[in-house]
Amino acid sequence: LTNDVIKNEDLEYIWHPCSQMKDYETLPLIPIKQGKGVWLEDFDGNRYIDAVSSWWVNLFGHANPRINAAVKAQVDTLEHVIFAGFTHEPAVRLAKRLVALTPEGLTKLFFADNGSSAIEVAIKMSFHYFKNRGSLKPLVISLENSYHGETLGALSVGDVALYKETYKEILIRSVQVKSPALVSEDAALSDLEATLKRQAHEVCCMIIEPLIQCAGNMQMYSPSYITKAKALCEAYNVHLIADEIAVGFGRTGTLFACEQAGITPDFMCLSKGLTGGYLPLSVVLTSDDVYNAFYCDYSEGKSFLHSHSYTGNPIACAVANAVLDIFESDDVIENNRAKSAQMAKELERFKALENVENIRQCGMVAAFDISGYEPSERVGLNVYRYGLDNGVLLRPLGHTVYFMPPYTINEAEMKKMFDTAYEAVKRLVR
Ligand SMILES: Cc1ncc(COP(=O)(O)O)c(C=O)c1O
Repeated sequence: LTNDVIKNEDLEYIWHPCSQMKDYETLPLIPIKQGKGVWLEDFDGNRYIDAVSSWWVNLFGHANPRINAAVKAQVDTLEHVIFAGFTHEPAVRLAKRLVALTPEGLTKLFFADNGSSAIEVAIKMSFHYFKNRGSLKPLVISLENSYHGETLGALSVGDVALYKETYKEILIRSVQVKSPALVSEDAALSDLEATLKRQAHEVCCMIIEPLIQCAGNMQMYSPSYITKAKALCEAYNVHLIADEIAVGFGRTGTLFACEQAGITPDFMCLSKGLTGGYLPLSVVLTSDDVYNAFYCDYSEGKSFLHSHSYTGNPIACAVANAVLDIFESDDVIENNRAKSAQMAKELERFKALENVENIRQCGMVAAFDISGYEPSERVGLNVYRYGLDNGVLLRPLGHTVYFMPPYTINEAEMKKMFDTAYEAVKRLVR
């Protein structure tokens, strides 16, 4: 098999995500044969550093031996079982561990099977909580420039026009407030407070991506906004949903981003790194208060009847447990400090490039914007192509180049990742 054989068959049958399929007439579609550590290898033997952790999911490298062993052990024991009326050990163990690791007060865990479905669960639970308590609050607050997924509920509360605009007639109601990543923290908080003052009576929850608006071009903001926003939400009887789907599991320098704000959200959504990039799984953690609003005799009609066929899949749970084992045994958060210091150092040289602005970093995520081009010029694609030709999978968001590699990246690989990006961007200087 060669790249061409796979590619041609692929394009005959498959419709890829987040793609204009016609682009594949000129853009390379890359068939990956195998992965090892931070490296992906195609059928022609070309190798690429996965600088985007395959859409921000991979933590400990591809084909990680410890995670592989967990999959193999679980698959011979129990591959899947219905999760209503039944349970299994990997799910129970995982739930207990996540409750212990997440901020105090998050005591109950609901399983789903991907990031967007976790967002749907959290929004529905919040709305339903208030309904069970006797008030109808159908509105959700979110930040401008936010992204929470692509299913209709998740898309409704996001604010990236590229994904949302087309579907506006069929979305649920949401209101966007100023993002602390794009205006001053004070201005963002004033806008939130004014919105709450005006509309809190019909708002069930506010949803945020703590510290980094990832799909919104890796825009970063300070934890103090989160602390203050949580206090405002509490004052106005509105839930706070922390969408840690992209930032959870160490990306921002702490295991969970909310830790830096010292808050306990009413709901915390986790996915992506939860399984180290192996399998689709997500969870929503919440409080006893929320749980108790649903806990009553069935005849009262207050149950949360949401479900997905693959809820709490045992293999995915076993993998998530293996991921937590690695966090426990390898002092990952501490070791990442040296890696994020190297990232900071590597970023320095970009300051000298006249077409680079807004260089930023939060933990294991670094980014900058390429300036001086119209969006229609799609210069991100030049960087993408140059990266692939030189062995690095960089996948800019518009004109934002970012780095979010697996934590197992070594010094030389890190250097190659930044060297390649530097050359790619330097070549764009007019
Ligand atoms: C912050 C955030 N929330 C939700 C999602 C949606 O997750 P999924 O793609 O698994 O549906 C994403 C995906 O990128 C995300 O970054």
